[in-house]
Amino acid sequence: MSTLLKRMGNKSKLAPKIISHFPKHDFFVDAFCGALGIFMHKTLAKYNVINDNDADVYNLYCQLMRNKEELYHQLEIMPISQDLFNFWRDGNRESCDLLNAVRFVFLSNYSFFGGADSLRLDASNTKKILLAAVEKTFLKLYGVQVINKDFRQVIPSIQFKNPKNAFVYFDPPYINTGDNYASSFKEQDSLDLFEIMANCGIKCAMSEFSNPFILEQANKNGFRVIEIGERQTLKSRNTEILVLNYDDNQLKLF
Ligand SMILES: C[S@@+](CC[C@H](N)C(=O)[O-])C[C@H]1O[C@@H](n2cnc3c(N)ncnc32)[C@H](O)[C@@H]1O
Repeated sequence: MSTLLKRMGNKSKLAPKIISHFPKHDFFVDAFCGALGIFMHKTLAKYNVINDNDADVYNLYCQLMRNKEELYHQLEIMPISQDLFNFWRDGNRESCDLLNAVRFVFLSNYSFFGGADSLRLDASNTKKILLAAVEKTFLKLYGVQVINKDFRQVIPSIQFKNPKNAFVYFDPPYINTGDNYASSFKEQDSLDLFEIMANCGIKCAMSEFSNPFILEQANKNGFRVIEIGERQTLKSRNTEILVLNYDDNQLKLF
């Protein structure tokens, strides 16, 4: 399934394998939702919260839910032109949230790896795929709560009636890799995330690359590490892993 937003770190291709390790839950939190590579592929829970601290990601999903027809129309008439790409890439923003959502989609979806460096011209049918994703994403996000917080504030801001039935998925920017997000991830951020997983009392899973630092922290906390597959980034090839603070043996797939 194609996502509305194309950017680096989108987990669409690995989604079935990652989701197969999720525990049964009725409250799902996607704390680093990004392009919704996981969220679009999983079955909706009874209650769902998606979060990203990037104001452009948040604005895009808010505009989709508030102004779907107009967003579709603006994406439909958006010229795929070098001038427009350069104008937006060079930091020029629009005066309304709707056009800033269009700007964000254009820079992300029409550049290499969503890096917004240069306009990608190729044989793909990007606009057709993009327009089809508008309706699919709208339907998926109907009734979903969308928030715009740093991951450290996400769990404290939610009232879980029954934390035992909740599940939080963390998909932070990979530490020590080049990425093109508004804020990248440092070792201290990762340590904070491990601490949350250790102390929140809710089942959590975190995606990361296998590296000595992450494996050491997972080991220290007694978390399970599952190999998901190989993944290419801008700079290198890496092994994608899933770190769980629960035992997924014999868990029923959701
Ligand atoms: C690897 S991407 C998530 C990809 C997503 N799971 C998908 O499959 O499309 C990481 C996301 O985390 C967001 N992010 C970075 N730092 C954050 C923070 N401190 N708190 C919350 N979100 C953050 C970025 O804006 C980015 O969208």
